[in-house]
Amino acid sequence: MSRTALRVRDLQASIGGLAILKGVDLEVPFGEVHAIMGPNGSGKSTLCHVLAGKPGYEVSGAVAVDGVSIVDLDVHERARAGLFQALQYPVSIPGLDLAVLLEEAAVSLGVGPEEARERIATQARRLGMERFLGRSVNGDLSGGEKKRSEVFQLAVLEPRVMVLDEIDSGLDIDSVREVAGAVEEMRSDEVAVLMITHYSRILNYIRPDRVHIMMDGAIVDSGGPEIADELEDGGYSAVRSRLGIAAPKAPSKTATVSDFFTDTPFDL
Ligand SMILES: Nc1ncnc2c1ncn2[C@@H]1O[C@H](COP(=O)(O)OP(=O)(O)OP(=O)(O)O)[C@@H](O)[C@H]1O
Ligand SMILES: [Mg+2]
Repeated sequence: MSRTALRVRDLQASIGGLAILKGVDLEVPFGEVHAIMGPNGSGKSTLCHVLAGKPGYEVSGAVAVDGVSIVDLDVHERARAGLFQALQYPVSIPGLDLAVLLEEAAVSLGVGPEEARERIATQARRLGMERFLGRSVNGDLSGGEKKRSEVFQLAVLEPRVMVLDEIDSGLDIDSVREVAGAVEEMRSDEVAVLMITHYSRILNYIRPDRVHIMMDGAIVDSGGPEIADELEDGGYSAVRSRLGIAAPKAPSKTATVSDFFTDTPFDL
């Protein structure tokens, strides 16, 4: 029986009284890659942020990494405990380049400076990130470059639980294959990967052990990669009708352009 890397129980999160996560249950064993798919606004990114310890949410429930609770830890302490979500952009840190930032992050996680520099050089070569090492960490990277950079950060820092939000968004066809290959290479008995994706396309290159469907703040279904195929064919309505979940309520009134302006300077 493999050890559970990430165990999430009845995780709830809200912002300013607005409930976003409504009881997420999830278990990812070491050695496995799990994918989460779900419609826009279902809470996938919020789950990633709450797992990583981003402040600003009212949170309840249990989250453990390798059997150790991390709910009371901040972002940095969670990273030390082995759970890491790559830096989210845009983070404007003028004058601080990616190589320096990453070396500092690695050292703060207990990696020796020499080893950190070696990992950075090796992984940058492997992931085609060399030309970005000297660039300051800000929002100037293209969508695909940001995703590549996220995977690069994970490859250098080697967390035990890797969280990747929208792993394939913005990647061109070749990059999807490359980034997926990099994630596959990071697979090991000591690592668990939780990745969010909208497209089953990437699952041709990373075969997830489990696919979870998230709707309205909870995991409503879990299974093998065939779930992604069902989604590709029938969309979320097929999943909803199989599970007997009502379709989301349509807005009571269709918004018009004029709803977004109080003083429209021209006739609509
Ligand atoms: N800071 C916030 N304040 C208010 N509402 C928020 C906040 N963050 C997220 N939400 C709302 O919570 C819901 C879930 O958002 P989240 O970003 O987690 O969705 P998602 O599943 O990642 O969607 P997508 O597929 O579009 O990336 C959305 O309705 C979103 O508008
Ligand atoms: Mg999202």
